[in-house]
Amino acid sequence: MLLYESIATGLRRQIAQGTLRGGERLPSVRQLALAHQISPATAVQACLQLEREGLVEARPRSGYFVRAAPSGLPSTPIARRRAPGQVANPALQGLLELPQRPGLLMLHAAVPDASLLPHAPLGAALSRTTRRRATAAMDYAPSQGDPALRRQIAQRYEHTGTAMTAEEIVITAGATEALTLALRVVTAPGDVVLVETPTYYGILQAVAALGLKVLEVPNRLEHGIDVARLDRLLQHTPVRAAILVPNFNNPTGSLTCDADKQALLASCARHGTVVIEDDIYGELAWSGQRPLPLRHWDTGGNVITCGSFSKTLAPGLRVGWLAGAAWTEALARAKYFSSSSNASLPQLAVGDYLARHGLGRHLRRLRRAVADNGQRMRDAIARHWPAGTRCSAPAGGLSLWLQLPPGGDGLALFDAARAAGIGISPGVLFSSRGDYGDCVRLSCGLPWDARLDKAMRHLGRLAARQPGARQ
Ligand SMILES: Cc1ncc(COP(=O)(O)O)c(C=O)c1O
Repeated sequence: MLLYESIATGLRRQIAQGTLRGGERLPSVRQLALAHQISPATAVQACLQLEREGLVEARPRSGYFVRAAPSGLPSTPIARRRAPGQVANPALQGLLELPQRPGLLMLHAAVPDASLLPHAPLGAALSRTTRRRATAAMDYAPSQGDPALRRQIAQRYEHTGTAMTAEEIVITAGATEALTLALRVVTAPGDVVLVETPTYYGILQAVAALGLKVLEVPNRLEHGIDVARLDRLLQHTPVRAAILVPNFNNPTGSLTCDADKQALLASCARHGTVVIEDDIYGELAWSGQRPLPLRHWDTGGNVITCGSFSKTLAPGLRVGWLAGAAWTEALARAKYFSSSSNASLPQLAVGDYLARHGLGRHLRRLRRAVADNGQRMRDAIARHWPAGTRCSAPAGGLSLWLQLPPGGDGLALFDAARAAGIGISPGVLFSSRGDYGDCVRLSCGLPWDARLDKAMRHLGRLAARQPGARQ
């Protein structure tokens, strides 16, 4: 292949794959010549070739631009390889691709709608931080995180009567990184880890990615974690860690009561099982009464508590944390070697927001909106979904968990909903064993409006078309 042809082929591929989009400028002739060690004349030849093909156009004194509607060139997809430890769940791939669909109604994502989050004051905090603390905002943050933010987080636990120090807190990229670091520090590949069933698929992915074995303890819609069962499981199997969501499990929204929390802590301590507590929904009690974290009763330093501002302030800022108890030093080291530190600007801005506004008023409004929306969605399900559909009655959090009538298929409903522009989560995602094929999870983070009303009716009709459904 001639030299200019090979340059043109590279540019053509970028246009076909969308790396270079309609209206964007190609690298200049000089840049192309330098990057590929070719003469400017050869670079010009490559551009002229693309112009002849109608892919780019020359603009006087500006260079070559990708034409707005490039002809439909076949892109060359890269064969997908699966990493060891990755859960082979095609439904998960489908779910990950959903956000790329413009206009989709986001009932699959357990996050509050943007209208319920304090975007304006957070935006103001970001620009204030950029203006007033430019050097700190652009520099590396301390590896464990901004000290002022860590104190603010510790204070929030102290307000619930839960002893906590800023020294124990490590700021992480959301609860996701907190959970992964905690698992990495306390377990070794091949260890057994206890999870709830159903549970958040991110937990199942993290456990699988680290080569850990899973033992499941039921989460019951009404009562949360089945503590008697947990104790029996620990008696028979050495379990290194239990990764639990006692405050508003995702997807069921169930709350484990204080007595059961204390019983499970005692059981884990007796059997040498470390507790990794995912308290990401602790602030989202529909009643307004924040339940206590497991950490409240932990006297032996056996509980690593993970949290995040993703569900209360802004998921995109990626500000989460863990409180490391007896593992703080090892966790801080793991964070350092994982990503050095979190980005400085979001940490400082969240700290600024908290110092100015606190969380109280915003959380009261958010909880009321989510509870109200959850109730309206439950009413719509009772009215428009086929008889025999069962729906959770969450105590908090952001999800409704539905079981379809006998013969119902959550994955088929996911596909049909997606085709209709509605994102939902199929139940199989929430089990490591492919259970819950007849279940789906819906987010109740969207405010109730005509579009949501219509979508709930439509989902009901789609569910009613499934074999076995009776209206
Ligand atoms: C139970 C649970 N843990 C962790 C996460 C991830 O949180 P983050 O966005 O802070 O990483 C989620 C998000 O849905 C969740 O539901």
